[in-house]
Amino acid sequence: MADLTTTFLGIRSPNPFWLASAPPTDKEYNVCRAFEAGWGGVVWKTLGEGDPVVNVNGPRYGAIHGPDRRLLGLNNIELITDRALDINLEEIARVKQRFPDRAMIVSLMVPCEEKSWQSILKVVEETGADGVELNFGCPHGMSERGMGSAVGQVPEYIEMVARWCKQHSRLPVIVKLTPNITDIRYPARAAKRGGADAVSLINTISSIVSIDLDNFAPTPTIDGKGSHGGYCGPAVKPIALNMVAEIARDAETRGLPMSGIGGITTWRDAAEFIALGCGTVQVCTAAMTYGFKIVKEMASGLSDWMDEKGYAVIEDFRGRAAPNVTDWQYLNLNYVTKARIDQDLCIQCGRCHIACEDTSHQAITSMVDGKRHFEVIDAECVGCNLCVNVCPVEDCITMEQIAGWDPRTEKPIPAEYSNWTVHGNNPMRRETLQFAPEPMVRQAEPAE
Ligand SMILES: Cc1cc2nc3c(=O)[nH]c(=O)nc-3n(C[C@H](O)[C@H](O)[C@H](O)COP(=O)(O)O)c2cc1C
Ligand code: SF4
Ligand code: SF4
Repeated sequence: MADLTTTFLGIRSPNPFWLASAPPTDKEYNVCRAFEAGWGGVVWKTLGEGDPVVNVNGPRYGAIHGPDRRLLGLNNIELITDRALDINLEEIARVKQRFPDRAMIVSLMVPCEEKSWQSILKVVEETGADGVELNFGCPHGMSERGMGSAVGQVPEYIEMVARWCKQHSRLPVIVKLTPNITDIRYPARAAKRGGADAVSLINTISSIVSIDLDNFAPTPTIDGKGSHGGYCGPAVKPIALNMVAEIARDAETRGLPMSGIGGITTWRDAAEFIALGCGTVQVCTAAMTYGFKIVKEMASGLSDWMDEKGYAVIEDFRGRAAPNVTDWQYLNLNYVTKARIDQDLCIQCGRCHIACEDTSHQAITSMVDGKRHFEVIDAECVGCNLCVNVCPVEDCITMEQIAGWDPRTEKPIPAEYSNWTVHGNNPMRRETLQFAPEPMVRQAEPAE
């Protein structure tokens, strides 16, 4: 059976599944039950300084559901912990003592002043915690007070605070990045320059999830008004994966340890983040939707898949997908595919025909010889795969690579790789073929 043990920044955990800083990690009662259920680690709900913050006393969540009522996206207007600092610290110390083999990371958010960071780091260190995560991410409430994403959006502040933390603590420092920024590479580079040991991403995305059309206010609505919140859950996974990939392949941050967060709901989601180079993954919405025991399925699913693929340890596949992320200009223009419809699986709903007819390339029949029949016309198909994505039957439509001759262009298909950098239509074309930049080297763990 595959070994799921992870060592991230020298912190060992029995599996890569950590709970992200959020309500599931808000108190001893929750975290103990999470560890009993099998979570490898937690990032404790963000601690602040001074009197605790005050949350709204009305609804704090909004959601997007699929047609089957499955939760696809969750929006929240919750702040950092609203419990006293000393109680949180006592609980953290007790939990760490009771579960010494689990990763205990403490999330922190205090004003951008060296003294504030220095003093909170000292008391956190005394709990026996394994590391700290700097919350530069919350897009609501705390950002208006000059913290959270207000820091995460200014690379100079990230660098400055990361440097203070490294100066004032022996604990590993993880910088949690906000996705509410144009180019994630800049804050990640700043974290690295400041000496951070790792980055974690993503925190929530600034959002208004819906407008109540009876009282004309955003949801969740507090006494007739609403404010933007932070969006998370399955809907944000593609954004998170892209940001992780950007950091993995950037020359300045390549090799920087990462903890992947954003919409992770299944073992497969987790494996995808790890394949892009993440050393651990963090989960919030899935635990809030399905409960702590979801980790059992995640761990057994990942382990079964690793056995099937012959991966004995996580390191055997970590980072393997990163070299295959490239820029559009390096994609092979001589790779030609056509859609193929499995007539035995087809239920003749006609969705592929409508999609292709109205918005693609009129390449799927609806009637043949006076009978309802859906078939691809190779001479029109551009291989876009829209039909695959709208078909309600899994694997009913697949894409097939063709070689030799393309009946659509009526031209031969060259066997060799070629890309846009040398294409005749490219006004900036080069004389010789440009290949993708050197692939990413696999991430190495820092020496313990
Ligand atoms: C209700 C709620 C509260 C959260 N509070 C925090 C927090 O205190 N600190 C923090 O760093 N992230 C917080 N987050 C963000 C999560 O840690 C995580 O980054 C985000 O939800 C994306 O992961 P997910 O898609 O698995 O939920 C919160 C998220 C939710 C839903
Ligand atoms: S791949 Fe695109 S062009 Fe071809 S049949 Fe499907 S939708 Fe039409
Ligand atoms: S969408 Fe799928 S099931 Fe429906 S007609 Fe097309 S191939 Fe058949």
